Amino acid sequence: MAKTKTRFFCTACGSETLKWEGRCPACGEWNSLAEAPEGEEAGSGTDGRDGRSAPRRPRPLREAGEQDRERRPVGIGELDRVLGGGLVPGSLLLLGGAPGIGKSTLLLQLAARLHGERARVLYVSGEESAAQVRLRADRIGGPAPDVPFLAETDVQSVVRQARDRDLDLLCVDSVQTLRASGLDGSPGGMAQVRECAAHLQAYAKDAAAATFLVGHVTKQGGLAGPKTLEHVVDAVLRFEGERTLEHRILRAVKNRFGGVDEMAVFRMSSGGLDPVDHPSEIFLADRPGDVSGSAVAVPLQGSRPLLAEVQALTAPGRYSSPQRVATGIPSRRLSLLLAVLERRAGLALGDADVFVNVVGGLRLTDPACDLAVAAALISAELDRPPPADVAFMGEVGLGGEVRGVARTEHRIREAGRSGMSGVALPAAAAGFAHGEDVEVRSVASVRELVRMLEEDR
Ligand code: TYD
Ligand code: MG
Repeated sequence: MAKTKTRFFCTACGSETLKWEGRCPACGEWNSLAEAPEGEEAGSGTDGRDGRSAPRRPRPLREAGEQDRERRPVGIGELDRVLGGGLVPGSLLLLGGAPGIGKSTLLLQLAARLHGERARVLYVSGEESAAQVRLRADRIGGPAPDVPFLAETDVQSVVRQARDRDLDLLCVDSVQTLRASGLDGSPGGMAQVRECAAHLQAYAKDAAAATFLVGHVTKQGGLAGPKTLEHVVDAVLRFEGERTLEHRILRAVKNRFGGVDEMAVFRMSSGGLDPVDHPSEIFLADRPGDVSGSAVAVPLQGSRPLLAEVQALTAPGRYSSPQRVATGIPSRRLSLLLAVLERRAGLALGDADVFVNVVGGLRLTDPACDLAVAAALISAELDRPPPADVAFMGEVGLGGEVRGVARTEHRIREAGRSGMSGVALPAAAAGFAHGEDVEVRSVASVRELVRMLEEDR
């Protein structure tokens, strides 16, 4: 057997070095390097971790990708959408989100669903006792109380138990509570998180079990400790939402087996998370009628168009440098639109404080929302409500021109379906509304948009 070199691990950031130093060369932390136990391949996530798996052999490429064909729909429509069609055997997935957002609930529902279909599942919690998880299972109902459960924090034991059961799905709640014996550092620290994830990745790959890890998000918004995990796992799903709102948004921020930007909406009810099949209704639900500064956008979220309310408020600036606050749209986009409105439509917002907010915690990065943001800003500044029930779609160019957007016909259909009576878009896109029950208003430029909002009541 080849002699393995001693390696050192930083217990703060998880990086490896070959010699001991007083200070970690990667993160600069003092006295954080710890020796990796002999024989351990530090953080490499390869086979042979517990000496039980067979070494890998080369295979023709043709045989690769077969896992993908075995993709298993989980039957929770919204979750399948974010997963890109279902769970891929052998994949390692990370479910991140703030405490209390519903990660454990979603995972238990998933486990219950598959257990009910006779798949072999195991739910491991290092956070909660069986009795605590049982309360959740009782609320969810159905097959949830029958899901095999293990309270365990030792990753090697988790892997051993999982192997013995020949699982289809392993759920680990959370990766920050696990520890690998033989490695210094507290659970939740970089080194432990990385090492535990490597064990689970090796397990997932050779047992062809889909493995879900829960990861808590820190105050800074990163996945605590396991920021490096994002590179290791096949997919990162992030659960977002405001505590005050009952709906939750699940987003794929990385997915080796599907598209990113896909998004799913759930509502937390007394019996767990319910998928929301028609999210536009939620995001428009509390839209005030006849108020200035509110406009409806139709962003594409992954493959699906959705209606969202954009709100704007303008006020005379109090300080020498005006405030610009963008929530839900990139602040650069707001700056650009303000400059275009000023130069191309004569809207003097240069010294004004400007606030833009997208309702419901949505984040709009689709440039097709420009026209709605511009309409909200103009409407706020003129203090005139925009025409009722009109959805705005179009990208605004630096010349003030309004440009067409991708998948216009899908957006128009969604607008009609969600109760909009009209759509505002560039003239060239008007043909897409053919056959839909919506009134089309063509807008060629921001100047025309101002005129429309001034006149139209
Ligand atoms: P939980 O899944 O424990 O969140 P996380 O694992 O992300 O920390 O659930 C969070 C909240 O959801 C909790 O405050 C209780 C609430 N909840 C419901 O409202 N209905 C339910 O059926 C369940 C199971 C939880
Ligand atoms: Mg939890």
